[in-house]
Amino acid sequence: MTPVTGTLRRIGTSTSVVLIGAPGSGKGTHGVVLAERLGVPYLSTGDLLRDHVARGTTLGRQVGAYLDRGELVHDDLMVAVVGERLAELEGRGGHVLDGFPRTVAQAEAAERLVPGGPAEVVVFLALPDDVARERLAQRADGRSDDADGATVEHRLEVFHVETEPLVGFYRARGLLRSVDADQPPDAVLTAIESVLRL
Ligand code: AP5
Repeated sequence: MTPVTGTLRRIGTSTSVVLIGAPGSGKGTHGVVLAERLGVPYLSTGDLLRDHVARGTTLGRQVGAYLDRGELVHDDLMVAVVGERLAELEGRGGHVLDGFPRTVAQAEAAERLVPGGPAEVVVFLALPDDVARERLAQRADGRSDDADGATVEHRLEVFHVETEPLVGFYRARGLLRSVDADQPPDAVLTAIESVLRL
């Protein structure tokens, strides 16, 4: 596959992308590859929190039940955790953020955390709920929040109520690029790369 080239919009020398989308829309699948191609760190808040839960850290004990129920972790806690991590990643040429911000309150806080905002481009991976349900039902990695249908339904509902308003938030800032995530993975990645070439 060819690397991302072209005139990706930059702040100074950085390349920062935020991925938003429903559970199962492919944020993790494509975020990892995209970060590799852009040569910037990939940060998934879901992976970060699951790692804390698995290690039994103080943070992990605080958030484990939220993840199991498909509830969002409190905004203040997330902003503190992500703020610390972004500070560590400073000077690495940008980032691909998967899972943050996830509420308008987090997005507003992120604008205060990162000079110029956390993203030069926000990619919205658009996917019908039915396809998301199928993908999560088929996932074989045994995540506690995929295990039963009611939790998956709740995650979709939380997405529509809490996270989808970010589409309008970032559209109003001229940062939003929408991609049809209901295509084979290679086609989704190609579409993401094409919206990054501005
Ligand atoms: P998080 O880990 O972010 O979970 P999520 O948003 O529910 O997303 P998923 O990881 O399920 O899906 P994805 O979009 O990454 O898709 P994936 O690539 O995995 O968050 C988990 C929890 O952490 C939250 O519920 C919350 O409790 C907490 N949390 C995290 N961030 C937070 C925040 N900022 N504030 C508060 N709480 C927070 O793909 C899914 C499956 O589909 C895979 O099997 C994949 O192989 C397959 N697939 C992907 N793309 C395709 C394709 N194009 N075609 C076919 N299959 C595909």
